Amino acid sequence: MKKYLKNIMAGTMVFAMTAALAGCGGSEPAPADNGGEDNAEAAGTLIMATNAEFPPYEFHEGGEIVGIDAEVAAAIAEKLGMEFQIEDMAFDSIIPAVTSGKASFGMAGMTVTEERLQNVDFSDSYATGVQVVIVKEGSAITAVDDLFAEGANNLVGVQTGTTGDIYATGDIEDEGLGTIERFNKGADAVLALTQDKIDCVIIDNEPAKEFVAANEGLVILDTAYAEEDYAICFAKDSELTEQVNGALKELIADGTVQSIIDKYINAE
Ligand code: ARG
Repeated sequence: MKKYLKNIMAGTMVFAMTAALAGCGGSEPAPADNGGEDNAEAAGTLIMATNAEFPPYEFHEGGEIVGIDAEVAAAIAEKLGMEFQIEDMAFDSIIPAVTSGKASFGMAGMTVTEERLQNVDFSDSYATGVQVVIVKEGSAITAVDDLFAEGANNLVGVQTGTTGDIYATGDIEDEGLGTIERFNKGADAVLALTQDKIDCVIIDNEPAKEFVAANEGLVILDTAYAEEDYAICFAKDSELTEQVNGALKELIADGTVQSIIDKYINAE
C-alpha cells in the first residue's frame, strides 16, 4: 500500500522508512576478497568508486570524469594530502567495491538508506536529492499518484539498484500495479522512454533535468516521489571515515561544496 509515498507526503526522510526494505533489491554484502594487501588507501591514494552516468554529480566529459562529486572528492583528497583516483563502475557495484576494500569510498549521488547502512557507514550529507518521474509530453500519467492508482499497469524505467528501483519495486511491482524495467544507465532508461518502450522513468531530479533538456518531448511531473540525502559511503568502521568526513565538514563550512554545486547547478 504505497508505503513510500505515504511517508513522503508526511515529509519524513527516506531513511526513516527503509527499514521495511531489507531484501528488496539493494546491495548484498560483498565477498571479502581482499587479502588485506590491496587496501585502497594504503599507498596514500584515495580511490573513489562511482558510476559516472549521473550528471551533474558524475559524468564523462572530454575523456575525464567530472561533476559535483568528482570535484568535492578531489578537494577532500587535496585537503588530506592524498593522491586521488576515480573508478567508474555499475551503480550496484559501488558498495561491494567499498566493502571489499577495492575503493576507499563510494560517492555517486548516493542516498543514505537504512538498508545501505547495514553494509556501509555514511559521511555527513552534502546534498539533497528528490526522486522525480519523467514522462513523455501528453502522457496519461500526469501525477505521481497515477502510478499507484487502482488498476494502474505501467512499465516503469529505473537505474538498477538505485532508490528509484527500490521504491518502484515496493510500491508498484510488488503491489501488482506495473512492471519495473531496470537499466544500467539512467540515460538508457530515458532513451527507452523516448522510444515508447516504457511509460515513465523514476530518477533523481538533477539528472532528470539534464536528460529532459537533452531530449525533445519529455517532462518531469510536478509532484515529487521522495526526498533524500546524499552522502559518501565507507566500509564499516573504516579509519578513513573520520578523516574524510572531517575534510568534508570543513569544505561545507567554508563554502567550497556550495561553490562546486553552484558551478554545476544553475541557481534559478
Ligand atoms: N540517489 C540514488 C541512489 O542512491 C541514485 C544514485 C545514482 N547515482 C549514480 N551515480 N548513478 O540510489
